[in-house]
Amino acid sequence: MSPQLLFWVPAALRFLVCVAGVGIIWFFFGATAGLLVALLSMGALAFTQLHYLYRLGSWLDNPGQSKLPDGWGAWTDIFARLYRLRRDDEKNQTELAEWLARFRQAMSLLPDGVVIMDDVLFLEWCNPAAQKHLGLQLDRDKGMRVTNLIRNPAFIDYIILGRYEQPLILSLQERKLIVQIIPFENRRQILVTHDATESERIDMMRRDFIANASHELRTPLTVINGFLEIALAQPNLAPETRTAHLTLMTEQGQRMQNLIGDMLTLTRLESVDYPLRPERVQMKPLLEGILEEARALSAGKHVITLDVDGPDLQGSLDELRSAFSNLVSNAIRYTPLHGTISISWERKGDGAQFKVRDTGIGISPEHISRLTERFYRVDKSRSRETQGTGLGLAIVRHVLIRHRATLGIESVPEVGSTFAVLFPANLLIEEFVPQKDSVSR
Ligand SMILES: Nc1ncnc2c1ncn2[C@@H]1O[C@H](COP(=O)(O)OP(=O)(O)O)[C@@H](O)[C@H]1O
Ligand SMILES: [Mg+2]
Repeated sequence: MSPQLLFWVPAALRFLVCVAGVGIIWFFFGATAGLLVALLSMGALAFTQLHYLYRLGSWLDNPGQSKLPDGWGAWTDIFARLYRLRRDDEKNQTELAEWLARFRQAMSLLPDGVVIMDDVLFLEWCNPAAQKHLGLQLDRDKGMRVTNLIRNPAFIDYIILGRYEQPLILSLQERKLIVQIIPFENRRQILVTHDATESERIDMMRRDFIANASHELRTPLTVINGFLEIALAQPNLAPETRTAHLTLMTEQGQRMQNLIGDMLTLTRLESVDYPLRPERVQMKPLLEGILEEARALSAGKHVITLDVDGPDLQGSLDELRSAFSNLVSNAIRYTPLHGTISISWERKGDGAQFKVRDTGIGISPEHISRLTERFYRVDKSRSRETQGTGLGLAIVRHVLIRHRATLGIESVPEVGSTFAVLFPANLLIEEFVPQKDSVSR
């Protein structure tokens, strides 16, 4: 049935009942009584309508608290509909509040900062990342002008110029921030901040590395080119001079090759697509091989000892060989004639330790923390003289990180240095020694 019929049919029926009642009274008791009853019932009807209108009015004043009456006649349906509307509204409000809470939580987990401001830059809301990036504090700064809170000339210029299509790169509290303002609705603006400190640092490291590597490669290349030019210009050089030139060129070529080899090793160690493939590394043969190489490098100029008294390791043989031989070759190269180099492998605490101790030139304390940086050298010319690339300890550091081992450096200038590598217990391979009484008969 249509809503009109639903309303009018019962109303008409109620009216007809009234008319019929009045007619009956009129018939039996005369016109006066009939008219009196008609008047009374019209009055009662009008009073009922007014009563419910009043109840509706007072409910509307305070829809949350007061209760809706059940109503009479057409009012029953109206009150039922109002009640339903109210219930839907409450449900919507709860949903909305939940959504808002979820949205705020998502915003607070965002690594980027979000600040909401009105059209004249008064702070309305911001997330924790924005507080951290811009040094804001929502409860303290709410309602303040953002340009009074972030007193940075570049930021203020950005706001004044209003060229918001381009982000602004801002140095703030030792951070590099990428800041952008996005107008939204027509009376609000969002300020978004992105912390680019880390990516900037990586970029800078990459630029430094390329600059350093090019510089390192250019020196030997210049030497080689110089001799080649001499050879071209003076084809009749004395054989001894020629041999001397060729020897120097070979040395420089070797230096370039070492450099490129170390650079490739470093790149591979840093690459995420190159996971560690652990295998059993037998320490005794490995260290004996390194000792032999060390004796060849030293050519009888040093006393070198090896003491192996530790378990085998779980790790990458090639990487560990490269790390250990870097440490040993450093010890030889930075130890003068007749010095002593002691290499040892032994248990230490739960783990095991590889140690190289030398009686060499030593390192002053201010250099020690920087030794594992790429191309960092205390004495550039000494490092070059001995075919150093400045990448050895950087390689060692990467290999050790991959094996979760740590490097300890102790050194006293003019006395000597100790480089100690500590491996955690879970990399050690413990031999199973069967006990006599547990052997089955
Ligand atoms: N055993 C050592 N004694 C003294 N100085 C050392 C020793 N090992 C490393 N160094 C210093 O650390 C620097 C960096 O070492 P490394 O990265 O292996 O590069 P390099 O190719 O120059 O040996 C060296 O240039 C040297 O100054
Ligand atoms: Mg080295």
